[in-house]
Amino acid sequence: MPNPGKPAHTIMSKTKPAPLAANTEIGGYRVVRKISAGGFGVVYLALDAQDQKVAIKEFLPASLATREPGALLPQVQPEKLSLYRLGLKSFFEEGRALAQISHASVVSVLNFFRENETVYLVMNYLEGATLQDFILCARSLKAAKVFRESTIRSLFDEVLRGLRIVHQHKMLHLDIKPANIFVTDDDRAVLIDFGAAREVLTKEGNFIRPMYTPGFAAPEMYRRDGALGPWTDIYAIGACIYACMQGHPPKDAPHRIEKERLPAALARLRGIYSDDLIELVTWCMALDPLARPQSVFALQKELGRAGERRYTRLSVSERMRMQFDTLVSPDGRRIERPARADETVRP
Ligand SMILES: Nc1ncnc2c1ncn2[C@@H]1O[C@H](COP(=O)(O)OP(=O)(O)O)[C@@H](O)[C@H]1O
Ligand SMILES: [Mg+2]
Repeated sequence: MPNPGKPAHTIMSKTKPAPLAANTEIGGYRVVRKISAGGFGVVYLALDAQDQKVAIKEFLPASLATREPGALLPQVQPEKLSLYRLGLKSFFEEGRALAQISHASVVSVLNFFRENETVYLVMNYLEGATLQDFILCARSLKAAKVFRESTIRSLFDEVLRGLRIVHQHKMLHLDIKPANIFVTDDDRAVLIDFGAAREVLTKEGNFIRPMYTPGFAAPEMYRRDGALGPWTDIYAIGACIYACMQGHPPKDAPHRIEKERLPAALARLRGIYSDDLIELVTWCMALDPLARPQSVFALQKELGRAGERRYTRLSVSERMRMQFDTLVSPDGRRIERPARADETVRP
């Protein structure tokens, strides 16, 4: 219902832009249905001319544009037009950069084109679910381990193969989190959602700090002057492995700087996961970027290291101290609910 007391544009900016209706034709593809709608746009399942399934991502940022149900063109308020065009340009650039990468662990871009005063990115359609869906499902089963160590190792071996290629193309992902790792029905791990990626390694043109997700974003993502590099994505990889072990994301970097509880949280996993895997997470998640693996290759070597794994179980006194720790946090409050993995905020 329109509210007569408010100007129309404030009402419009509160409603999400409407997705394209089923059977809409765009660039020779036919929309089947909306798969998901995030802050930057909408992902659709669509069919190509040969009736093959594709996924199409439409640039349609809810903060800058609106669209009436049934309409094709987004409406952008004049004062937001320059930001919208900037976003459009970088969405297009990302499509171009991603289209150069062809790897089983990186989502493939089949096509990208301008239409309806926006941009569309056509990807091959993946059947399966995100790693986040798997974590939530495993967590609801309340088992001692969320995933087996061998599962974690082979999953991240694949993710790292993809990430290494991304870095070789002078791109950073910058929003690696379980919701952006897709696990296909034929058991492949695929990196998706390069919406935050920028060609930051070359540092050309306007540089906009990307969005970040608490828990997975490295401390340098929170600073204007922080040098981003492969180590920034590697922090997020460490946080993803942590989430696969614990079933929830780690504390965000500002919390860790204030009060570091990561070693204690990881110590609880001793005996359940090998010391080697726990050390690997500690290494990736070092607050100091220089103390982390500096390249995906360095991390791959460690993750793939064969040989006997060490397991150091907790002693009785360590267990007792930890139990006490879990009941009451140092400031006397109960431990708070972990942040939702898909919560994304701007610095
Ligand atoms: N190629 C694809 N095949 C199938 N589903 C996809 C594909 N790309 C994205 N999705 C689905 O759409 C959701 C959102 O896509 P994503 O690229 O992460 O955009 P954003 O998070 O910016 O909205 C994903 O979680 C996934 O469920
Ligand atoms: Mg995403």
